[in-house]
Amino acid sequence: MLKGKLITFEGIDGSGKSTQITLLSDYLLSLGYRVVLLREPGGTEIGERIRQILLDMRHDNMTAETELFLFEAARAQLTREVLIPALESGAWVISDRFSDSSVAYQGYGRGLSLEMIRSMNTWATAGVRPDLTILLELGDRARDQRLRKRHVEGEHDRLDIESERFKQRVCEGFREIASEEPTRVVVVESQGEKEDTAALIREEVKRLWQ
Ligand code: TYD
Repeated sequence: MLKGKLITFEGIDGSGKSTQITLLSDYLLSLGYRVVLLREPGGTEIGERIRQILLDMRHDNMTAETELFLFEAARAQLTREVLIPALESGAWVISDRFSDSSVAYQGYGRGLSLEMIRSMNTWATAGVRPDLTILLELGDRARDQRLRKRHVEGEHDRLDIESERFKQRVCEGFREIASEEPTRVVVVESQGEKEDTAALIREEVKRLWQ
């Protein structure tokens, strides 16, 4: 029995996920919930090593298929080692990305079969689905500014340097996922003040205990 809840955050790089995850986690902790924070790829020792391979700038010859298998491998490990035990124990789990990222990046971005990715996702996650997914949307200009700052600070990885067209396809993919499952996936604009965005997210989360 999974007594806990799974909330996932999705969105293009630089959409403000980490800030909002921290704010939501603080809020849930203040209400007395037990919160477990995860990130994908990663969150386990094996997953963090897979993450290094995936994001390494030297691996510019990695095929799309290899990339998909590695993301799914990290997810399979995270699901069984951390996610399911946490949900069984009644914790509220917040994950920075989950299976929707593979549909958006490897499916819409890289052009791999959506049907195949969905079935690999089901297998990797042992059928665990998020109770709620927050898709953060940032206007193009605000996102450009945020990403430029990161690049100046030297914080970029293999996927960050993908073309603008690739990122547009990923954004469209996320929107498509949200329109297919409007109850689970909620689009939240994140260009305004971070506290305003956090308040919008809290309203969505409150639906989970109604
Ligand atoms: P990360 O540094 O965690 O980026 P972000 O802060 O944007 O979450 O790097 C993860 C990268 O991996 C990010 O560019 C999205 C990508 N990704 C996929 O392409 N497929 C996936 O299934 C997942 C989980 C992530």
